[in-house]
Amino acid sequence: MKLFLDTAEIEEIRTVHSWGVLDGVTTNPTLFAKTSGMTYDEVLKLICGITSGPVSAEVVADDVDGMVKEGRHFAKIADNIYVKVPMSENGLAAMSRFRAEGIRTNCTLIFTANQGLLAAKAGASLLSPFVGRLDDINEDGMQVIRELAEIIRFFDIDSEVLTASVRHPRHVTEAALNGSHIATLPFKVFQQMVHHPLTDKGIVQFKKDWETARAAMPAAKKS
Ligand code: G3P
Repeated sequence: MKLFLDTAEIEEIRTVHSWGVLDGVTTNPTLFAKTSGMTYDEVLKLICGITSGPVSAEVVADDVDGMVKEGRHFAKIADNIYVKVPMSENGLAAMSRFRAEGIRTNCTLIFTANQGLLAAKAGASLLSPFVGRLDDINEDGMQVIRELAEIIRFFDIDSEVLTASVRHPRHVTEAALNGSHIATLPFKVFQQMVHHPLTDKGIVQFKKDWETARAAMPAAKKS
C-alpha cells in the first residue's frame, strides 16, 4: 500500500521523505492557502523536487476548457504531476480530455462508489473518496473504499483507490484492510502512526538501563 502526504507544507514533505516512507503528495487549494509567500506553481516545483512519486495539483476552474487549461499548465511543471479534478459533469469531461492527451488525473471529492466508477471510466488514474467527511456526517466512509476497491479489482480497471480525508491512524489501517491502493495522510497522522506509548516508554527505559549498566562498569572496560 502506498502512503501519500496530504499537505503543501515543504518542511513536512521533507521530513516524511527523510523517513523513507513517502510515496507521493496530494495538495488542494485549502492546503495551499495554509502556506505563505509562494505561488502554487513554486510550491509544486519544490514538492516535485523532493519526491518522484505522484504529486496532485488541483484545478479551480468550473468549466471544461478552464480545467483543461489549468491542468495542461500543471502537467508542464513536472513529469510526476497528476491533475486533480473534482467529481462533476464538467470534471468528467475534462478528465476524459486529459486521458486523450496522456495527462494523468486524480478525481477528488468522491463520496460514492458510483462516482468512483464514473471517474475511472473517464480515465482518472487515482480515485479519491473522502472518508473523514463521510464519517463526519454519520455515514460510513470505509464502505465506499470497500465497494470501490472491489469494483476496481473485479473488472481489473486501471485506476487506483486513494483514501483521502484521513483523520486518524485507524483510518489508514482500515483503508489497507479494505483494499485501498493508497491513502493520503495529514502530517500529524504520519506522526501518530510512528508513535505508541509503549514504544516511546520502551526507548526511554532501554536508554536508562544502558546508562545504569555502563555506570557500573570499571572505567577500563567502557568504550
Ligand atoms: O486531499 C483532500 C482531503 O484529504 C481533504 O481532507 O480533512 O479536508 O476532509 P479534509
